[in-house]
Amino acid sequence: MSNAYKITEHLYDMVVVGAGGAGLRATFGLAAKGLNTACITKVFPTRSHTVAAQGGISAALGNMGEDDWRYHFYDTVKGGDWLGDQDAIEYMCKQAPAAVIELEHQGVPFSRTAEGKIYQRPFGGMTTQFGEGPPAQRTCAAADRTGHAMLHTLYQQALKHEARFFIEYFALDLIMDSDGACRGVLAMDMATGEMHLFRGHGTVLATGGYGRAYFSCTSAHTCTGDGGGMALRAGLPLQDMEFVQFHPTGIYGAGCLITEGVRGEGGILRNSNGERFMERYAPHYKDLASRDVVSRAMTIEIREGRGVGDRKDHIFLHLDHLDPKVIHEKLPGIAESARIFAGVDVTKQPIPVLPTVHYNMGGIPTNYHGEVLTLKDGNPDHVVPGLYAIGEAACVSVHGGNRLGSNSLLDLVVFGRSVANRCGETVAANAAHPRLPADACDRSLGNFDRIRNANGSLPTAQIRDAMQRDMQGHAAVFRTGATLAEGVDKITRIAKSFADVKVSDRSLVWNTDLIETLELQNLLGQAQATLASAVNRTESRGAHAREDFPDRDDVNWRKHSLCWVDERCNTRLDYRPVHVNTLTDEVQPVPPKARVY
Ligand code: FUM
Repeated sequence: MSNAYKITEHLYDMVVVGAGGAGLRATFGLAAKGLNTACITKVFPTRSHTVAAQGGISAALGNMGEDDWRYHFYDTVKGGDWLGDQDAIEYMCKQAPAAVIELEHQGVPFSRTAEGKIYQRPFGGMTTQFGEGPPAQRTCAAADRTGHAMLHTLYQQALKHEARFFIEYFALDLIMDSDGACRGVLAMDMATGEMHLFRGHGTVLATGGYGRAYFSCTSAHTCTGDGGGMALRAGLPLQDMEFVQFHPTGIYGAGCLITEGVRGEGGILRNSNGERFMERYAPHYKDLASRDVVSRAMTIEIREGRGVGDRKDHIFLHLDHLDPKVIHEKLPGIAESARIFAGVDVTKQPIPVLPTVHYNMGGIPTNYHGEVLTLKDGNPDHVVPGLYAIGEAACVSVHGGNRLGSNSLLDLVVFGRSVANRCGETVAANAAHPRLPADACDRSLGNFDRIRNANGSLPTAQIRDAMQRDMQGHAAVFRTGATLAEGVDKITRIAKSFADVKVSDRSLVWNTDLIETLELQNLLGQAQATLASAVNRTESRGAHAREDFPDRDDVNWRKHSLCWVDERCNTRLDYRPVHVNTLTDEVQPVPPKARVY
């Protein structure tokens, strides 16, 4: 097979796949450590999905009121419904203030307080005094375009550090050796169809989430979980895939994000009776409860007939009581989105919103160094040599069963930096690359060639549509054993139908038909893992709300799910223990208790 496609080989110390916030932070961090680093990305770096992040990045700077990183730690453990690894959560929350100051020094144009400090707004689930005090103003914002500002700054830093970019290259597969170590990645130059083997002592997957497995999501069309798909094909498990976050405020119909920053600035959700219903569900923090709580409350309101609109199938988000100056200065982007996608003037009319798929808490299991973990010989924390994952592609797990808003931009920069630090210590610059067998790429090329020449009866779009509707209907805000089991049956059939896919364009130059089909293969494995893990977890925790098992069950289920999906579409499940201990004694582990807001 390697004869059918000519492969150009590149030797680097480190290979990063993905150029969003995590990939860029890792790329220039690795370059700064003296490691010869290539970054491969399927879109131009500043088009990566981080650009769409709106509300901000969390850090207990205390610029606008009392705060402490320990409160942030507590909120993150509680927000994740005690499924998060507390050592990793401590690491992230403690690093957060320095990470944000570093971004400021690198040039991120944060909004400012009157004294010139970084502006911080309240976000859901972010509190003070270990959940007993008022909401924390912890989310550092550049108006409502924080991700945009960060991504551009991080790209400039990567250019400054002279990292080498391979732009509009699509990563096909991890190249693993017979000892289970990762030796690099095979990628295709989408402009020419030429194959490139990037060999590295370390490969970092920073490929983002798989939101596009769903019909309606806030994620870009590029969010197809390519790293997760590659990990599954390499025989590695994905972790906690049943935990899919619905953002409470996607624009009804369009799915575009309306930042939680709106509620942070005083925006309010109302039902068809004009009632501020969150007062009933979260008496203390109301509209600023965590996202899973707000999304469930909205879904209940709609189900019980109190939705708005002709079909009573959505909710209104009001900002019309806010000072237009606040909207103009702090929320200009969402005012524009609401005008374009919902046709409303937010100073006068409410925005029609609906919980919309936004984030995958699950992903490739890692420790807080970004090293990929698998279960091997009974060891649940076995490190896969040479392989790292960061950002939404990874499950560290700092977000547990539910991520708090603004902890994602933080996760990107903290773990992007952490993987660079780790590799700076463990990877020798310019070391010789071990020999690779001549057939190292054959499996991947075989898969590629089969898909390229696929001549079945089902267009890619038809299989993708079936997958997205199955996920939307069965892996929803509320789940039951019966609906999930039906979803599993359907997704298994849909995944198997991929053998009958038809790719119409046989060329290799800018073949979007081919790329979308490769992306669909990646999505299908993760859709299967999501449904298989969800039907298996017979409790409710975080974003996984089982109506037939409404309570959290810490005795049996305070553990991470691991799911493997093989090429015959069979799934296999196992578990990893949650890390219940902190890294240091600077903060105490938070034992599980009732999660109320
Ligand atoms: O609502 C938002 O601005 C989204 C933030 C996040 O997901 O962290």
